[in-house]
Amino acid sequence: MRTLDDLGSVEEDRVFVRVDFNVPLDEHQNITDDSRIRAALPTLEDLRNQGADLVLAAHLGRPKNREPELSLRPVAQRLEELLGNGEEVVLAESLSDVPDAGIVMLENVRFNEGETEDDPELAKQYAALADAYVNDAFGAAHRAHASNHAIAKLLPSAAGLLLQREVETLEGILADPERPLVAIVGGAKVTDKLGVLEAFLERADTVLIGGAMCFPFFAGDGHDVGSSLCEAEGIEPARRIIAEGGDKVVLPVDLVAGKAFSADTETQVLDGVDVPEGWMGLDVGPRTVERYSEIIGTAGTVFWNGPMGAFELAPFAEGTRAVAEAVARAKGTTVVGGGDSGAALVQFGFADDVTHLSTGGGAALELIEGKTLPGVEVLRESEVLR
Ligand code: 3PG
Repeated sequence: MRTLDDLGSVEEDRVFVRVDFNVPLDEHQNITDDSRIRAALPTLEDLRNQGADLVLAAHLGRPKNREPELSLRPVAQRLEELLGNGEEVVLAESLSDVPDAGIVMLENVRFNEGETEDDPELAKQYAALADAYVNDAFGAAHRAHASNHAIAKLLPSAAGLLLQREVETLEGILADPERPLVAIVGGAKVTDKLGVLEAFLERADTVLIGGAMCFPFFAGDGHDVGSSLCEAEGIEPARRIIAEGGDKVVLPVDLVAGKAFSADTETQVLDGVDVPEGWMGLDVGPRTVERYSEIIGTAGTVFWNGPMGAFELAPFAEGTRAVAEAVARAKGTTVVGGGDSGAALVQFGFADDVTHLSTGGGAALELIEGKTLPGVEVLRESEVLR
């Protein structure tokens, strides 16, 4: 993959930089987690320090019709604050009127017709704005869209520092991990995580399972799941995973249950994994936490993706919090996939205590599954160098 070093000096160039600033916003368009903006700063500062002007491109949400609440204006403002050097980030509303400024941010690229279709004509319009192209949007690398794929064939192009670090770290886990390699896989559905589970059955020494996706495993083994979220289509794949993985696959041994999916519901700790009628399992229990923390503590490499329970509800947050803490304390290399586990790590204050917190949810999973990421591949394939 071509890197900033391969691109050479960009002094006095205008560089089109694709970033992933798809950040969560509350109902007043306040950014609730700016990790993705912070993560791009090293690349932006590097290019600015070299003397380049920047045209930044990013998407926000999945707009259908230029919804004003999906404008990147709050993101441009936050970036300005984070750069902290008084420099303005100018928002360009239209591709045909992009001001000449040190840092311009294009309005949400998904407002442009053809962006998600990887339209070469749109890519030409983007390319006309710059002398070189840098992709630092790891979180969007699994999409073949005009601003992260087609454009890379038209300009001298390279990966930014974040994209490079993400790809090298995640590929490193697969290729040559320090052992034992422990994968923690949680979340709601087995079927969403099948590719990742299969990748780790092949490579990991231990796979710890948590979240509602453990219920298809329990149901397949004849346990009662009560009114827990239990994906019926997950039962067969769960059986197959146990058959393939044997002792490598570790499941919870106790649970915290609630009467309803609510923070003020009645709760109980179940000393086992049978959930009584009228109750739902919403977190892993204390014995599971102890067991998982011990395994995580002795790992050479840890990869974590997916929460252990409904951590957004205080009574059911402890399993995820404790796993986050165990990952943060572990002496081995610790890598956390983005998405919910990344959000949990930030929420519980451990984001700075892991080796690498990925900014990509879907992209990190697809890379682990062994899929080709179009945004990365194009930086390997095409030969548009200076
Ligand atoms: C993400 O948030 O996972 C990325 O920004 C990609 O967004 P998308 O799933 O809407 O393409």
